[in-house]
Amino acid sequence: EAIAGGTQSSLTFTELKRVYDQTHHVAPGYTAEVLLRWGDKLTADATDFEPTQQSGNTQARQFGYNNDFVGYLPMPFGSASSERGLLCVNHEYPNPHIMVPGFIAKDDETLGKTMTAELVEICKSAMGHSVAEIEKKDGKWSLVANSPLNRRITVETEMAIAGPAAGHAQLKTAADPSGTKVKGTMANCGGGYTPWGTILTCEEFAYEFFGGDAAKTPNQELMERIGYEPADYYGFARFDDRFNVEKEPNEVNRFQWVVEIDPYEADSTPVKRTALGRMGHEGATVVVNKDGRVAVYMGDDDHQEYLYRFVSAKPFNANDRKANIGILDEGELSVAKFEADGTLNWLPLVHGKGPLTAENGFADQGEVLIKTQLAADKLGATGMDRPEDFETNPVSGRVYAVLTKSAKRKPEKVDAANPRPENKWGHIIEMIPPGEGKDADHTAAQYKWDILILCGDPSKPETGAKFHPETTADGFFMTPDNIAFDPKGRMFVATDGMNDFDLADGIFAVDTDGPARALPKALFCCPTDAEATGPAFTPDGTTMFVSVQHPAEGSETIEKLTTRWPDFNDKMPPRPSVVAITREGGGSIGG
Ligand code: FEO
Ligand code: CA
Ligand code: CA
Ligand code: CA
Repeated sequence: EAIAGGTQSSLTFTELKRVYDQTHHVAPGYTAEVLLRWGDKLTADATDFEPTQQSGNTQARQFGYNNDFVGYLPMPFGSASSERGLLCVNHEYPNPHIMVPGFIAKDDETLGKTMTAELVEICKSAMGHSVAEIEKKDGKWSLVANSPLNRRITVETEMAIAGPAAGHAQLKTAADPSGTKVKGTMANCGGGYTPWGTILTCEEFAYEFFGGDAAKTPNQELMERIGYEPADYYGFARFDDRFNVEKEPNEVNRFQWVVEIDPYEADSTPVKRTALGRMGHEGATVVVNKDGRVAVYMGDDDHQEYLYRFVSAKPFNANDRKANIGILDEGELSVAKFEADGTLNWLPLVHGKGPLTAENGFADQGEVLIKTQLAADKLGATGMDRPEDFETNPVSGRVYAVLTKSAKRKPEKVDAANPRPENKWGHIIEMIPPGEGKDADHTAAQYKWDILILCGDPSKPETGAKFHPETTADGFFMTPDNIAFDPKGRMFVATDGMNDFDLADGIFAVDTDGPARALPKALFCCPTDAEATGPAFTPDGTTMFVSVQHPAEGSETIEKLTTRWPDFNDKMPPRPSVVAITREGGGSIGG
């Protein structure tokens, strides 16, 4: 379709007019239906969601809160079904101030002190991950009620720790003297999935759920480096000693990893894969290299943090699914350094190499991984404007990372890869491995790089925004967070933070190649205060699943809500939900 200036975009849909109100909207000719809501019955023994009667037990059987990353895995495994699959969804964090009628938390400062034991249990069960079998009948998606694969993973679910840091002294606790078993996962933000049918769920800022004084632990330097502040923001440490760093200083080291879950086996034990490093994990995108080894791209979502890549030692075995479970325990983690001349160097985080020695505080590879960020500092990696999601374009083989924003970047800290001071809008960086498409070498030590988009309102030159010149007032976006490619190699960007500019967050589709490169078009927008997260496609590209996270989050209290999306029922709180987007009459999302 020819658009404004006449350029051919591969995205032929009519874009959504910009709107920001209490509900969601989708482009003309598309439908966006709510598929799974916080509190929906998930497991066979679940009870109906009753907001005034909620407990940790009921919540642990229902769809969790604040849905984030979404993965769609076809059912059965090995098929390419776009009509039946496992929807695997992260639940990042609770919002107690708008979850339970009658609970009034005055402000952020006092929230942790106001929390009750009961509410802490609800919050522990509301985080983690959900596996939901879904099917499409007569064009409409729904949950397969009572599927034996429907499953909740929470802050109490038993997990294993594997890889080079497993059993490390700094991972041992009173409850687990082996340093190989841990209860639960939390702060599950981005994620990814593997070609062998497992989910990678990423633990982001899990330290926020701990309390106590880091100075009274042996881990002070590391705690400060990960960003720990002793707020006990959610009150967990008041009710459960394992979240009090003064009482159990190593428990916090057992979080902020990537966790692998096998959703096709309902009683499989999730495994924290320490070889992938420890950070504010945001996304873990797997790509099979031409030689069969797998690369995992990962961001660390904070100011001046880094982009990472893991390359497995062994190749992926396409004929034996289970033989691959464990492949992520052995390989090389590296961190990105962007040079001003357009070169990207991957610097290996390997014990004994360069400064990563015992004298510098890294006794072994386990310690390099537990202290990934400190190790990356030593190598001189490039501090980025808050790295969020990472994806590979399946057609071109080029790799994209989203830098959501960093208002804290000082003018003297600007560099070629992070070119704007006080970057309130974010940007998208393109990494170009040697070779193209299936021949791209995702194991190479050196890539090229470029900037695809500098986000912001292009009608305001002072922002320095840079899109395709034909970008419309409806189509530009800011604060990109999650991305997904459709099978045709078009990028779909989910945003988090346009609300700060009184604009709706949503989904924007962009060509990364051809004459309409960097020309975005608006597809979907969220209700008040919500961000769009975790987009995922069915294999045929005809359905896109979007997590609508934290609707009404900006409300002062549950008595004064900015929206009651999606139920708009006075007895129901706002409910984070996953939406399924399809085209009326069928066909590829975006055209
Ligand atoms: Fe949880 Fe990086 O957003
Ligand atoms: Ca974010
Ligand atoms: Ca995110
Ligand atoms: Ca993604």
